[in-house]
Amino acid sequence: MNIRSAKFVKGVVKADELLEDGKPQIAFIGRSNVGKSSIINTLVNQSDLARTSSFPGRTQQINLFLINKSFYLIDLPGYGFARVSRQGHERIRKLIHWYLLTSHCEQKIIVLIIDANVGVTDKDSEMLKILEKQNKNIVIVANKIDKIKKTEYKKQLQKIQDLVGKHNIIPFSSETRIGVKELSSEILK
Ligand code: GTP
Ligand code: MG
Repeated sequence: MNIRSAKFVKGVVKADELLEDGKPQIAFIGRSNVGKSSIINTLVNQSDLARTSSFPGRTQQINLFLINKSFYLIDLPGYGFARVSRQGHERIRKLIHWYLLTSHCEQKIIVLIIDANVGVTDKDSEMLKILEKQNKNIVIVANKIDKIKKTEYKKQLQKIQDLVGKHNIIPFSSETRIGVKELSSEILK
């Protein structure tokens, strides 16, 4: 599919009807700083549609991007950022859980992003379990694959595979654009 238009619609910090307008939603979820916002930019081929930062905790709300006036890419805040206060953590955890579990939003696909270099953390496994329990349609991305040495590549991907089970993993990099075609065809069909 060609992306003809991509527009920021709004940021949501609590239950909001606009998320339930019936248009399909494709949500990006993962640890803080794993590269969720960058992946959205890479997919739509714009450098600054979603705001990114080298400082974890950049995205603090649920950001909706309307693509081709027909579906949403949803940029979620990241989990697991140690330097956020306990209240901050709790607010973000509740927001993510509301969106995934209690809102009436039906995500067509949830893209769970793992840092290829860091591997699958406990928080990632916890999130994967929650998504599986809800029977969500999950796509797993191993991001920042450019950081993995060629000699480590196979071993590192196998390690990730062992921890995520049956799911297919798409190696990806916003730096080198590895995996753009694969991820696009998986989620934008
Ligand atoms: P939060 O909004 O804080 O949850 O982070 P995020 O997951 O949206 O990450 P973001 O896209 O802001 O990227 C975080 C940092 O990682 C930035 O400095 C990016 O430039 C960098 N980054 C993102 N993708 C890649 C990648 O594929 N390779 C490399 N080497 N760096 C990347
Ligand atoms: Mg972000």
